[in-house]
Amino acid sequence: MPNEDQFTAGAIAARLETGVLGRDLVILPETDSTNTRMKRDYAMHRAEGFTLFAERQTAGRGRLGRSFLSPEGGLYMTVLLRPKLALSEVTLLTIAAGVAVCGAITETCGFTPSVKWVNDIVHRGKKLCGILTEASISGEDGTLAYAIVGIGINLRFDAAGNPDLAQIAGGLSDFAVPPSRAVLAAAVLKHLERQYRRLCAGARAAIVADYRALLCCLDRPVTVIENGQSAPAFCHGLDDEGQLLVTMEDGAERTLRTGEISIRL
Ligand code: BTN
Repeated sequence: MPNEDQFTAGAIAARLETGVLGRDLVILPETDSTNTRMKRDYAMHRAEGFTLFAERQTAGRGRLGRSFLSPEGGLYMTVLLRPKLALSEVTLLTIAAGVAVCGAITETCGFTPSVKWVNDIVHRGKKLCGILTEASISGEDGTLAYAIVGIGINLRFDAAGNPDLAQIAGGLSDFAVPPSRAVLAAAVLKHLERQYRRLCAGARAAIVADYRALLCCLDRPVTVIENGQSAPAFCHGLDDEGQLLVTMEDGAERTLRTGEISIRL
């Protein structure tokens, strides 16, 4: 790593422009997954805004049980939140985080990536970032105890000779001079706090509208992947809950919830 990439708590704190997010933070040299570790060791007793970073992850996790390659040099972080949301609204955190990451990349790299529903940040067909939101339910009353938003951003991406991976994944350095991880982390936290505050203030429709404007799949043919089966469809909208509206090949209209479904362009 070049010297300017001093990834320390002090370097992040010096750049923080937040009130709550990232004000308490830990950087681990290595962990299995910052999401897993957050739930295991921190979520129960840390306050909202606590952020866990790792220099590398040995078992980085993605949506639908996929793994997330996490070598040294990327930004891997998980933010602890305690929102007063219904369980059905947790997807809105992913949507808010998608808007936030696009804002942070625009600010620090000078280009605006797109969102591939629901949780991938892409630019010119290459995935630059993944977001994994998880929720914990209180056993007493079934409400949301806490939520964690995990964000992984490739600053430089090395496909390690794997041509399939090189086709679908990339890094910020493919499109701009990447910022240091501390600068990027502070920007992500600032934009995430801004979106989170809007969400908590009830501005859900405005956040979804911002997210909609970033979507790369609107008015395009997509492939819907569900239970391992692929089906062609046409994407024509996103509703105010963040659900994707598609028309299947046989003309059937479907509303895709995030659960077990993903799309390919
Ligand atoms: C996806 O691609 O489906 C989501 C990937 C999310 C990766 C981030 S990296 C930080 C946090 N820890 C994890 O194990 N996953 C998330």
